[in-house]
Amino acid sequence: MLKGLLLSGFFSLSLAIYLPVREYSGTDFFSAWDYYGYIDNTTWGNVTYVDQNTGTSQGLTYIDPATGHAIIKVDNTTNIPAATTVNRNSVKLTTKDAYPLGSLIVIDVSHIPYGCSVWPSFWTLGTGLLWPLAGEIDIIEAINNLQANQYALHTTPGCYLASNSFQTGNTLQTDCSTGQGCLVQETKPNSFGSGFAQAGGGVFATQLDVSGIYMWFWSRSDIPASISQANSSSTMNLTDWGTPTAAYPSSACNITQYFQPQNLVLDITLCGVWAGVPSIYNSTGCSGQCIDNVIGSGNPIYNDAYWDISYIRTYLASTTTDTSGDSSSSSTSSASSVLSSSSSSSPSPSASSASSGNDGSVASNAAQPIAMVNDRNGATLLRNMDFAFVIHDV
Ligand SMILES: *[C@@H]1O[C@H](CO)[C@@H](O)[C@H](O)[C@H]1NC(C)=O
Ligand SMILES: *[C@@H]1O[C@H](CO)[C@@H](O)[C@H](O)[C@H]1NC(C)=O
Ligand SMILES: *[C@@H]1O[C@H](CO)[C@@H](O)[C@H](O)[C@H]1NC(C)=O
Ligand SMILES: *[C@@H]1O[C@H](CO)[C@@H](O)[C@H](O)[C@H]1NC(C)=O
Ligand SMILES: *[C@@H]1O[C@H](CO)[C@@H](O)[C@H](O)[C@H]1NC(C)=O
Ligand SMILES: *[C@@H]1O[C@H](CO)[C@@H](O)[C@H](O)[C@H]1NC(C)=O
Ligand SMILES: *[C@@H]1O[C@H](CO)[C@@H](O)[C@H](O)[C@H]1NC(C)=O
Repeated sequence: MLKGLLLSGFFSLSLAIYLPVREYSGTDFFSAWDYYGYIDNTTWGNVTYVDQNTGTSQGLTYIDPATGHAIIKVDNTTNIPAATTVNRNSVKLTTKDAYPLGSLIVIDVSHIPYGCSVWPSFWTLGTGLLWPLAGEIDIIEAINNLQANQYALHTTPGCYLASNSFQTGNTLQTDCSTGQGCLVQETKPNSFGSGFAQAGGGVFATQLDVSGIYMWFWSRSDIPASISQANSSSTMNLTDWGTPTAAYPSSACNITQYFQPQNLVLDITLCGVWAGVPSIYNSTGCSGQCIDNVIGSGNPIYNDAYWDISYIRTYLASTTTDTSGDSSSSSTSSASSVLSSSSSSSPSPSASSASSGNDGSVASNAAQPIAMVNDRNGATLLRNMDFAFVIHDV
């Protein structure tokens, strides 16, 4: 029975291909996102997340003319005197588009904000329901002087990181409904902080699938050819990606149940309920009081508190057979059409058409082989096969 399932998957592997949906890059980068425009009232950092006009006029969001990369930064020029309430200007951006199960998100980043009091995150937030009912995925997140990235899911109770998950990262928490979420720490070098920047940055990728949620990291020199040789219109083939750092197979978390279409979010807060907790602040390489960084001129303290992003590319799985390795413009626009709008109050029915409309029992069964295979490359192939099987079964 199980063997039959695997063979079915195997024969549809060649159909598993990801079509490009859109690229966030260059001069169009900022038009595809909403600016938060309030104080940080979710993680309680001492920042005001500016609106678009302020972000542009104060030079907190811009395209670097030398590289064409998007820069998103904390204010490091304004002198802020000590006061009862202290907030420094920073940025929080949310995509106008939301991505359903069946999506793939790839970010090429040269610099992640770091330093004492600095708490950056690139994450996704489920649409249409109050947090965390629609799920949250933390793709890049750490604080202060930490040097290793952390990955997490946040859900309502009942979703776990499987104990036999096939991943390279270090599991710190398996229950996705806890405060820290089901947490996995990167074990590859240079995934965060000064080390990440000195290595030239790298690429993080996230696969949202009925069979599970999977996240990868590669330092600049280790990026697989499928990504390093791709451009904005290339299809994506995951065969050379290797084992993910963090793998959340649906055997322990019904992804279809816990995750609605996801907006992408980029932000930088200062202090707040993680970076600013005195014991945590102290144990992550920082001395004194967190708020004392926020007060004052902001430099040189926040000179490294910026994102430098080459691109964020999004893809949707397709059963289209594409022998050229390039998608046509018609397949690109058909992939785009399943995106849901973040302004809708409930997930768009079309948004789930890529894969989340499947029978969940197929997804759950299909995920089982991941942990049963001990060969790394084999495991990745099996997971992709399962994915193809689920798609093919629609
Ligand atoms: C993905 O790459 C592998 C290895 O090069 C190849 O065998 C497979 O046919 C490719 N899949 C698609 C859909 O192009
Ligand atoms: C944050 O503040 C904004 C503006 O007042 C408000 O619309 C939003 O609901 C608040 N969010 C939370 C989580 O309190
Ligand atoms: C820092 O921000 C937190 C959360 O908004 C607030 O409770 C605290 O009073 C702020 N500290 C200062 C010195 O403004
Ligand atoms: C992407 O690469 C392909 C193959 O090299 C090329 O035909 C295509 O024009 C490129 N597209 C862009 C947008 O650069
Ligand atoms: C953290 O606190 C301990 C105890 O007060 C102190 O000895 C240590 O130097 C502090 N660490 C840093 C980085 O300041
Ligand atoms: C602010 O930081 C940027 C790098 O992010 C740096 O180029 C600039 O010189 C800094 N500004 C000041 C006033 O130090
Ligand atoms: C997973 O959740 C979906 C949507 O709530 C549901 O239809 C399906 O039956 C569930 N699958 C399992 C194995 O519980």
